[in-house]
Amino acid sequence: MRDMNYLLGIDIGTSGTKALLINASSGGEVVASSTKTYDLSTPKPLWAEQSPEDWWQGTVDSIRDVLDKSEIDARQIKGIGLSGQMHGSVFLDENNQVLRPAIIWCDQRTQAECDWIMDTVGRDKTLELISNPVLTGFTAGKIIWLRNNEPHIYNQVKKVMLPKDYIRLRLTGEYATEVSDASGTALFNVAKRDWAYEMLEAIDIPAQWMPKAYESVEISGKITAEAAKLTGLSKGTPVVGGGGDQAAGAVGNGVVEEGIISSTVGTSGVVFAFADKPVTDPEMRMHTFCHAVPGKWHMMGVMLSAGGSLRWYRDTFAEMETLIAEALATDPYTIICGTAAKAPVGSEGLIFLPYLTGERTPYPNPHARGVFFGITLRTGRDHFARAILEGIAYGLRDSFGILEEMGVPVNQVRASGGGARSGVWRQIQADVTGKNHVTINIDEGPALGAALLAGVGAGLYPTVAEACRSVIKVSDETKFKRSNKKKYDGYYRIYQSLYQSLRGQFDEVAKLTKG
Ligand code: XUL
Repeated sequence: MRDMNYLLGIDIGTSGTKALLINASSGGEVVASSTKTYDLSTPKPLWAEQSPEDWWQGTVDSIRDVLDKSEIDARQIKGIGLSGQMHGSVFLDENNQVLRPAIIWCDQRTQAECDWIMDTVGRDKTLELISNPVLTGFTAGKIIWLRNNEPHIYNQVKKVMLPKDYIRLRLTGEYATEVSDASGTALFNVAKRDWAYEMLEAIDIPAQWMPKAYESVEISGKITAEAAKLTGLSKGTPVVGGGGDQAAGAVGNGVVEEGIISSTVGTSGVVFAFADKPVTDPEMRMHTFCHAVPGKWHMMGVMLSAGGSLRWYRDTFAEMETLIAEALATDPYTIICGTAAKAPVGSEGLIFLPYLTGERTPYPNPHARGVFFGITLRTGRDHFARAILEGIAYGLRDSFGILEEMGVPVNQVRASGGGARSGVWRQIQADVTGKNHVTINIDEGPALGAALLAGVGAGLYPTVAEACRSVIKVSDETKFKRSNKKKYDGYYRIYQSLYQSLRGQFDEVAKLTKG
């Protein structure tokens, strides 16, 4: 049997876990892929939780599935990379038992705790220590929330793990993380690529609760006998650090050098730029985190409900489109985008603010809400569908604007995620931002990035950039249309001013609905 170099990437996402098997011996060709979905629970307004056991089950099932589908010998998998939704908190006791559901990235309950941390540490010191503000989605506030609200659980905590790192623990028995995901805890010194011990001490979180932080390509552990039995993997297969889903996704998009920017619309919407140095946005609207490329950083703007807004629209209003899609054996989003294409540029003044779960970039405000502005008797389903696609694109444009203010070069924009699949939506994104958007030959996102990082760790590629060069090629370009851009400039100004006009009302409604 010819020895093959397979690599496995596993992405613990918000809607499901994906396992992706690629063959490094044949240019990174995708051999098999499997996604197992699970639910998100919102027990109270602003809350978002998931069960780490669901992630684990999703991991076991998706790995089994790719091994079955591919029929390869698992001993030929030379490395495994993990990626996952960032910022979530898995609280473990001394026996590694999960103490409560994980509080995940889009949970917005911790404003009071974040304010307390920033006041205790001081704004300037916080920026110096972690290169970012302490935002409600980040892990630090969740730990303090637990201390303030569920002290009986807090008193049993022995480790706090990020989502993918909990899965690493189940696969390898190691308490480990890596620099890109650790950056999103608000407890990590992004510039020094190590835990922010001064910060941990100032807010009285034991440093020993934090797992060891590796670089993303370093081997963090090996598959245990027990995990091998459950998954079908081979005992001893190395597992590299991997990356938070954004950093791993950037590797999967080839965003590993200056000037290449990715714009990814999944549940969240992220504009991501590579950086040689840990440059910070003085107004703290962008995040500055460690990249999965050793010794490099990145900046990103994060919208919380990008594709999430369209999913909400599909589930709440698009029953008809969903039925049509079923009849045609296609995706409901294809039908919704087709409907959107019937409305003119600017949706005749119907403007959507996509703040369904509050917002992070450019407004770190958990109380911001979704808005449709400008409904008239002429407004129909096509306008609503288009306004959502446009509103999300306006949100992405906010991040491009900040990058420009910071002097970050934008030479090429790579569109990815669900939002890149529709030609109509890609055109809207290009026209709204005034930037041509390219797509690449292989749209497998964070799972691909994780697999490539594993390839570097296993010695199959010399560097992350080389791994990307050998697998990722630009395949298509959507050019922006100047006349559309001009029209969108006017609507974008209104989009921006609507948030300013409604800020007070967002706070008032939050007080009224507090529950
Ligand atoms: C990044 C972020 C999200 C999550 C979920 O900061 O919060 O992208 O990682 O995908």
